[in-house]
Amino acid sequence: MRVPNPSAEVAQWLQAAASIVALTGAGMSAESGIPTFRGGGNGLWSQFDPSALASADAFRADRALVWGWYLWRAALVRHAEPHDGHHALARIAARVPKFTLVTQNVDDLHERAGNEDVIHLHGSLFSPRCFACHRPCGEVTLPDDAITRPTLRLVPPRCRHCGGYIRPGVVWFGERLPVDAWCVAEKAARECGLLLAIGTSGIVHPAATLPLIAKAHAAKVVEINPVATELSGCADVTWRSTAAQALPALAEAVAS
Ligand code: OAD
Repeated sequence: MRVPNPSAEVAQWLQAAASIVALTGAGMSAESGIPTFRGGGNGLWSQFDPSALASADAFRADRALVWGWYLWRAALVRHAEPHDGHHALARIAARVPKFTLVTQNVDDLHERAGNEDVIHLHGSLFSPRCFACHRPCGEVTLPDDAITRPTLRLVPPRCRHCGGYIRPGVVWFGERLPVDAWCVAEKAARECGLLLAIGTSGIVHPAATLPLIAKAHAAKVVEINPVATELSGCADVTWRSTAAQALPALAEAVAS
């Protein structure tokens, strides 16, 4: 079903559901100035080659290039602020009995807007770990010019435990999702009464399976995205709007 402003109906589903899942993707952060991966000429994967930047093989081949690119992305996030949609989602979470926020995003904008216990399926730009021993190690220190230099080359620091190189704390292509995060997300999707899919193309699995799991267990699925996606077919409502527009409207409808 597609209606121009479905906030009242979605708010009713929100109030009736015993538990709710929000699955967010790169589109959630777009209005904070963080580029998405796909769609439009500005998508990261239309400007940069993922095979050269987002895999263990890429890190082995040129760790200075990979580390520098992730520092650039971390700098973009450090300079960004959560937008009205992030804040509205935090208000919605505070009003419902059980709310699970699952994100594919590696930024911290949900946390900065006030959401707690955010499940990061694809890791975080700010949790570096060792490429060799895998232990969390150190903090991300950003050079002053990182924000202006996506192709900054910088040799990563060494692990204080084993001396290996530090890598970004994100999930790369070919890698498994963090098991605990996935288990919590999958269980929440199975048990929820409503899943909001916000700003994701629904292409990358297993994250994109969560709306399908929720639907198969009789939950309502609402997609918030300005364009049709792989997930549109499974959605009970496709809300053709942006995160910063739709979520404040939904928060208002929930509050009234
Ligand atoms: P994508 O870049 O694939 O999709 C972003 C989606 O957001 C698109 O469907 C856009 O239409 C939508 N969008 C754009 N602006 C929006 C806005 N203001 N409000 C709402 N929606 C908007 O991003 P993801 O689906 O998150 O993986 O991509 C999934 C994964 O692919 C990422 O986590 C990343 C990438 O490779 C890893 O890095 C492991």
